[in-house]
Amino acid sequence: MGRAKKVVLAYSGGVDTSVCIPYLKHEWGVEEVITLAADLGQGDELEPIRKKALDAGATQSLVADATQSFIADYAFPAIQANALYEKRYPLSTALARPLIAKLLVEAAKTHGADAVAHGCTGKGNDQVRFDVSIAALNPDLKVLAPAREWGMSREETIAYGEKYGVQSPVKKSSPYSIDRNLLGRSVEAGPLEDPWVEPLEEVYDLTQAIANTPEQPEYVEIDFVQGIPTQLNGQALSPVALVEQLNQVVGKHGVGRIDMVENRLVGIKSREIYEAPALLVLIQAHQELESLALTADVTHYKRGIEETYSQLVYNGLWYSPLKDALDAFIQQTQKQVTGTVRVKLFKGSATVVGRQSPHSLYTPDLATYGAEDSFDHKAAEGFIYVWGLPTRVWSQQQRSGS
Ligand code: ARG
Repeated sequence: MGRAKKVVLAYSGGVDTSVCIPYLKHEWGVEEVITLAADLGQGDELEPIRKKALDAGATQSLVADATQSFIADYAFPAIQANALYEKRYPLSTALARPLIAKLLVEAAKTHGADAVAHGCTGKGNDQVRFDVSIAALNPDLKVLAPAREWGMSREETIAYGEKYGVQSPVKKSSPYSIDRNLLGRSVEAGPLEDPWVEPLEEVYDLTQAIANTPEQPEYVEIDFVQGIPTQLNGQALSPVALVEQLNQVVGKHGVGRIDMVENRLVGIKSREIYEAPALLVLIQAHQELESLALTADVTHYKRGIEETYSQLVYNGLWYSPLKDALDAFIQQTQKQVTGTVRVKLFKGSATVVGRQSPHSLYTPDLATYGAEDSFDHKAAEGFIYVWGLPTRVWSQQQRSGS
């Protein structure tokens, strides 16, 4: 008895997911494997990937253009949440997983499959994100993860695939494990496994080394409407075009690199290099606009929400009741977050140098040190008396006590 009859497999064209096709059929008795390759802006050509799945024995090979939804439905809400895992990683890989899970669940329904599958191993976060997202969307659907169980080394995996028509990788395999999409690149393994070792320049692809960046600064103006980026330098752009163009400009100035050791959900620390030029600048600009348009208490409270939100997304809980509740809070705050932010890019740094909003709470009459000042200075004295009262009482008690 097989584990399932008909399976929809998340397919990237790489060795592991390709070997999953014959493995599911020959080892686990699956009758039909339908592959699904989602275009998330990896920059790969999809037609050869589609063919490769058929050569490896897939009954059908589906390709889905998911770029618009990826940016509009996953990346932009994360920008509204200023989502940075451990205050640094903008979740560029993590955000793709709930979308792929949704596409798998939909395809399983359309094609009458009784299971879905992915090629993740047992050590990463992505297996968690797939399994939990799929369970949230359809708790009755089985999830198969052959690479988590097969226990083959890389060489054995390649050899197994060759027996069943999976071409071994043509390029000399890189020492790195790379995940790429429209939001950026995540690179780990190889020489990066030593956290003391500085990454070689070859690790980077979307961002220039400082030595090669322009000698003149460049300014970009980003417009937001209710927390959603809508224009670059006054030009309205689709979500995908906006991210693509901003990646170019920001990357050219060497901005958008992160070198970090992070805490995975499965308890392992890992060293990862990220490039996410547009996403990082969008979060920075968005946060700056919030400082103009949100009250102090909402801003401060939201920072705590953002931390929880980032952990949920990292830990595979995109589709969960707590995430839904946080979304509702965040959406409420974003009604005011409309305006423009001007960012200066130069030699590896992005600096916000201007911001404006029709909802700005910044009040020149109150803030000014000039003659137009309308702030009642005398009122400060009474305020400070009351504000400082508990501290005064505490201090007196300390002095008079033992
Ligand atoms: N550590 C990141 C995350 O958990 C990226 C994982 C994929 N990285 C890779 N180099 N293949 O979201």
